[in-house]
Amino acid sequence: MHTKTAAVFTQNNKRYDVEKIRNDFPILKTTVHGKPLVYLDNAATTQKPQYVIDKENNYYKKYNANIHRGVHALSQEATEAFEESRIIVKKFINALGKNEIIFTRGTTESVNLVASTYGRENINEGDEIIISHMEHHSNIVPWQMLCQEKNSKLRVIPINDDGELIFEEFEKMINKRTKFISVVHASNSLGTVNPVKKIIDLAHSHNIPVMLDAAQAVNHLPIDVQELDCDFLAFSGHKLYGPTGIGILYGKVNHLDAMPPYMGGGDMISKVTFEETTYNELPHKFEAGTPHISGAIGLGAAIEYIEKIGLENIARYENELLIYATEAVSDLTGLRIIGTAKEKISVLSFHFENVHPHDVGTFLDFEGVAIRTGHHCTQPLMKRFNIPATSRASFGMYNTKEEVDLLVAGLKKILEVFG
Ligand code: ALA
Repeated sequence: MHTKTAAVFTQNNKRYDVEKIRNDFPILKTTVHGKPLVYLDNAATTQKPQYVIDKENNYYKKYNANIHRGVHALSQEATEAFEESRIIVKKFINALGKNEIIFTRGTTESVNLVASTYGRENINEGDEIIISHMEHHSNIVPWQMLCQEKNSKLRVIPINDDGELIFEEFEKMINKRTKFISVVHASNSLGTVNPVKKIIDLAHSHNIPVMLDAAQAVNHLPIDVQELDCDFLAFSGHKLYGPTGIGILYGKVNHLDAMPPYMGGGDMISKVTFEETTYNELPHKFEAGTPHISGAIGLGAAIEYIEKIGLENIARYENELLIYATEAVSDLTGLRIIGTAKEKISVLSFHFENVHPHDVGTFLDFEGVAIRTGHHCTQPLMKRFNIPATSRASFGMYNTKEEVDLLVAGLKKILEVFG
């Protein structure tokens, strides 16, 4: 079933066959404004290989039915495929059990779920929650809302000018009132990879649970939740070459068991009377209503696809691209790279002294080059760097050095026009 993606590496892992990978992604043959698409907006969403598209299509074409509900053959088949995906996810992040894998709509819903359930149960007046200065709005606002409701305090780990967490400041912040820590594993705006294991170990030495927003990490860095020992972890399918509208909440079983449900409805119940309801066992307790069945199946397929290539191989290749791109843009006049941490995923954010990011993005679009410009849902971070927005090129497994060259050529043209 993986014939298209098999053996992109030789046995000794010497050859990363990017052309073969590119052939698996139909959209990469697209032209934009008459130019071949150069898709460098992978931190916003990744493109989908034919394998994932086929898997989702097949569900609708061949066995569309609701899950966990019917004795008929199609329902059984759909249930099996959905639950098989859960097992694929479990193995991918090395969770202890499949009941620790909750299907959600994405990272945002996963964080909201934890804030609304674990948070409401365990955070009280005067308690403190720690996040970092580089969080995405989805790992700020849910905690802020909880703090407002509970009259508790949101504390923010500062970062240095390279966009790295200042660990000593984090250490100083922890006190008896600290009840929860939620930090981003890899920053969408800066690319910074945070020392999450160190954060978790320190937090646990004070009995504080830690949630990781792994939305940007999961397609660049192998993740082992048992080794990390994180309490919760969230990610989205669409950043992982899978479908939109599907994501994962991983939680340690003891937490998930103790937490109240997030939403009420079908499938999350065991018994309902008008007087009271008892809830279903994990993971179903947190999966009310008909889920995004094809999305879950597509996410499983995306993980299968990635594993054929190997996340370590992808990470090594993307890092080469990042180094190449960083060097290539570093002598462009007036360009300042935002996010120069020692450890980065393949995200290159920059700011031109005299050109607004919106103009950069629009100009590059006419060259066929897709990047993201704006605050990237990290407004406090933009403020920290004293800029309204950045231009961000983010690289995926299928990008090439030639595409980086086209980005740089576009930036040079921009300098000629606006410079
Ligand atoms: N969070 C996504 C990004 O960084 C949408 O672009």
